[in-house]
Amino acid sequence: MEQILPYTPQVAEATKHIYDRVSTIIPDVEWPIHAPYIALINELKTEQNAILLAHNYQTPEIYHGVADYTGDSLGLAQKASETDADVIILCGVEFMAETAKILNPEKKVLVPDLRAGCSLADSITGRDVRLLKERYPGVPVVTYVNTSADVKAESDVCCTSSNAVQIVEALNTDRVIFLPDNYLGKYVASKTDVEVILWNGTCEVHERFTAKELHNYRITTPDIQIIAHPECPPEVLDEADFVGSTAGMIKYVDRERPGKVVMITECSMSDNVAVEFPDVHFIRPCNLCPHMKRITLPNILASLQELKFEIQLDMTIASRALGAVRKMLEFSK
Ligand code: 13P
Ligand code: SF4
Repeated sequence: MEQILPYTPQVAEATKHIYDRVSTIIPDVEWPIHAPYIALINELKTEQNAILLAHNYQTPEIYHGVADYTGDSLGLAQKASETDADVIILCGVEFMAETAKILNPEKKVLVPDLRAGCSLADSITGRDVRLLKERYPGVPVVTYVNTSADVKAESDVCCTSSNAVQIVEALNTDRVIFLPDNYLGKYVASKTDVEVILWNGTCEVHERFTAKELHNYRITTPDIQIIAHPECPPEVLDEADFVGSTAGMIKYVDRERPGKVVMITECSMSDNVAVEFPDVHFIRPCNLCPHMKRITLPNILASLQELKFEIQLDMTIASRALGAVRKMLEFSK
């Protein structure tokens, strides 16, 4: 049973500065529900020397209310590699928490709901990678971080959507095996002369966007800027003005300050980013990631109170996976 926490004058006072920031995106009737959790989570984090890392797709009350750091997959891995906190709470999906654990085998890494998976991570196993390596001997394996530790352990180097092209080019090779996102792989292939051998994984959120949908935005809102995530199908990316990771999209909005923009990615992104850019008008398509939405303030609180759910990895696999993750971080310095 979820705890019901009272919205007291003390809670209102302790969270007022947060509500002042997010009042444009969180309705005032909702605040008394979120605020007691936010106050208690922030208190407990300090007591336990815990750091809360949140992906850009987390809901606004998490992103603005309790996160110590927000970012894309690369940013979260970089932050996890630097922290001196004793406990890392990863508010995102399981592969992100696993990456944090690979980088911090001695720390407690928690994910508030173990069911927070990912269709890309589910599309491939370590055995699949071993079979591919037999089929293409000597061809380097570049693996998107959206994979299990087992898959990373079989890989030469990891990448995220913000450094995939750069990493494939830096390998100085004619061919790479790129796993498991077929669309990100096709995007990388379109940006380099390196031959890219693809897998058939897709993100269940980004594959739903269509070129027609983007084209319609141009008709209904002629001066709109369209920015898209490279997990989208190629014909969708062809319609976009900019393609980048979630952090890349935020930087684009910051740099270009478009009058009107649509972010072709998960629902919460626009809500989270709109807070920082009140002069930009965000058109908000909504394709929701059910895995990211498993994380809630009540289960973050339970995670901190009961130190659950702790990521446990086979240490042999984790230490092999560390090589591929470290190499990615080296390339991205
Ligand atoms: P980035 O935040 O790294 O762009 O990744 C998007 C994503 O789908 C993560 O699950
Ligand atoms: Fe996986 Fe797509 Fe959800 Fe990201 S948005 S966690 S890639 S299913």
